[in-house]
Amino acid sequence: MAAAIIDGKAVAADLRTTLAENVSKFVERTNVQPHLAALLVGEDPASAVYVRNKQRACDKAGIRSTLHRLPAEITEEGLLALIKQLNKDPTVHGILVQLPLPGHIKEQVVLDAVTPLKDVDCFHPENVGLMVQGRPRFLPCTPHGVQQLLLTSGTQVAGAHAVVLGRSEIVGKPMAMMLVQRGEAANATVTVCHSRTAGLAEITRQADIIVAAIGKPRFVTADMVKPGAVIIDVGINRVDDKLVGDVDYEPVAEVASAITPVPGGVGPMTIAMLLQNTLTAAQLSVGMTS
Ligand SMILES: NC(=O)c1ccc[n+]([C@@H]2O[C@H](COP(=O)([O-])OP(=O)(O)OC[C@H]3O[C@@H](n4cnc5c(N)ncnc54)[C@H](OP(=O)(O)O)[C@@H]3O)[C@@H](O)[C@H]2O)c1
Repeated sequence: MAAAIIDGKAVAADLRTTLAENVSKFVERTNVQPHLAALLVGEDPASAVYVRNKQRACDKAGIRSTLHRLPAEITEEGLLALIKQLNKDPTVHGILVQLPLPGHIKEQVVLDAVTPLKDVDCFHPENVGLMVQGRPRFLPCTPHGVQQLLLTSGTQVAGAHAVVLGRSEIVGKPMAMMLVQRGEAANATVTVCHSRTAGLAEITRQADIIVAAIGKPRFVTADMVKPGAVIIDVGINRVDDKLVGDVDYEPVAEVASAITPVPGGVGPMTIAMLLQNTLTAAQLSVGMTS
């Protein structure tokens, strides 16, 4: 295997240690404990695991977390009423609505209802707008985690051709926008691909950096990768009870210069960035800007 492994688990652990120190300093200074409220609707086992992991990480960082478990049959109005209550609760700094929501609930309506100051996932249009304009209040967790991995791995992003596979609101679109900004781990020339892209492999073969976020197991194969490219695999797919990414890991690692594994790559970074945003939200609540 030629590629260096970008160890997201280790990078996230370092970030979480620093974050726990910053949380502790913040609590000492303000007597306010950062507090994340998580909403879990229904019984989806994967969602329950994600929420549990986020709560555990909060505990370790000194961030309080509360879980609101709601039945799958809850109405949209019922969910909105709870969000309204949490928006007003001064002891709650971050609100996380675990996706997906049951089909009868409109996700956009629910996500828009979270007050922008507690929108630690950075899904609210106001926060997306601020991010696009290059003056973020929060940064979206998964793309921010990717950027941190590019930074800590010493990847040359400025001037590089970054190809983002996927254009979802959660990963692909904000990822592309963040890579094209002025700033650290940015200033890239970005191409965004999606299911209607023609000649995808020709495009990926021109990439210095590929960020794969399409949700298709082992989709990115070695012949789609330029020798020496840096590969960031956001995908999490369950195949035969095993987690695999969107990248065909072993063969691609023979061609790439650096690659993130699945699991242990981007996933742990997403959680670390969520914790960071919760601290930021608590800081904002007491009038601190950073
Ligand atoms: N590691 C983490 O923390 C983390 C966080 C979030 C998501 N994920 C994982 O990342 C993956 C993507 O998540 P998501 O929420 O962004 O997914 P999504 O909302 O389903 O979006 C998938 C995107 O991939 C595109 N796509 C699908 N098939 C394609 C193909 N054959 N060629 C090119 N593009 C294609 C889609 O194009 P269209 O727009 O044209 O349909 C869409 O834009 C999933 O595996 C998810 O589990 C991981």
